Amino acid sequence: MIIARTLAELETARTRLDQTGFTPTMGALHEGHLALIAAAKQAGLTPTASIFVNPTQFGPNEDFSRYPRDEAGDLAKLEQAGCALVWLPSAETMYPDQAATSVRVAGPSRLWEGTIRPGHFDGVATVVAKLLGQMRPACAFFGEKDWQQVQVVRRMVADLLLPVRIVPVPTVREADGLAKSSRNRYLSSQERAAAPNLFAVMRETVRRIETGDAVEACLAAARAALIGHGMVPDYLALVHAENLEPLDAPSPPSRLIAAARLGPVRLLDNLAVG
Ligand code: PAJ
Repeated sequence: MIIARTLAELETARTRLDQTGFTPTMGALHEGHLALIAAAKQAGLTPTASIFVNPTQFGPNEDFSRYPRDEAGDLAKLEQAGCALVWLPSAETMYPDQAATSVRVAGPSRLWEGTIRPGHFDGVATVVAKLLGQMRPACAFFGEKDWQQVQVVRRMVADLLLPVRIVPVPTVREADGLAKSSRNRYLSSQERAAAPNLFAVMRETVRRIETGDAVEACLAAARAALIGHGMVPDYLALVHAENLEPLDAPSPPSRLIAAARLGPVRLLDNLAVG
């Protein structure tokens, strides 16, 4: 596995690889991330990845400085997964001193995470645009775990006519249904035991909506159930799967999306409806 830390190293390595399948990450890798590498391989592409904890997508009161970092462990996992090239840029490389350009995607970034974390998707879109330009992959792989992020990236790629295909990969879960996340480690044992209720409640809500129950009543019952499990829901909504606008009845493609706070962690999840 080639490790590139400067643009010059990246350029030398990249020109030797063709038809790559790129997975951008912020490190602290788990099986969710590795499923993206596996999907690239499965698609017959040469897997590549990046690790960069992107400061511009964290809000002032968020966990940028204490975001988990484990470079040696991450590199071992990527090598084991068959990654051919990993890009480890510095903040100075990604954000030159005089930088005056950022990417803002309207549409799918307006609501939900976009409202709760102002500027978050600007940071994501900007760094992903830079990473795609640096890596120039045939395909880039993103987890459905962050459903809204996938839609924002797809919109950006379509709008900027970037020559890359965005491939969504299904959410990897723990045995009890909890979506794997780097931040799950901050849950206490009691919170960890309660956390799978988000997925359980959402699955039950999808079932009810699919059998024709009134959407607003289903959502209200689900919010109450989450509160009953000790969570504070930020949102729980039925939305159009691509533009993320709220729906009051399921009309494909639709998605149930949720974020709920549990102790120090915000749990995110989403499921297909219909
Ligand atoms: P990060 O949170 O490290 O996630 C990297 C990729 O792994 C994202 O596409 C995310 O959706 C995916 N992923 C995380 N957990 C997953 C799971 N349980 N199942 C499937 N996929 C999962 O998302 C980011 O980093 C950043 O915003 C980034 C795109 C790298 C831009 O900085």
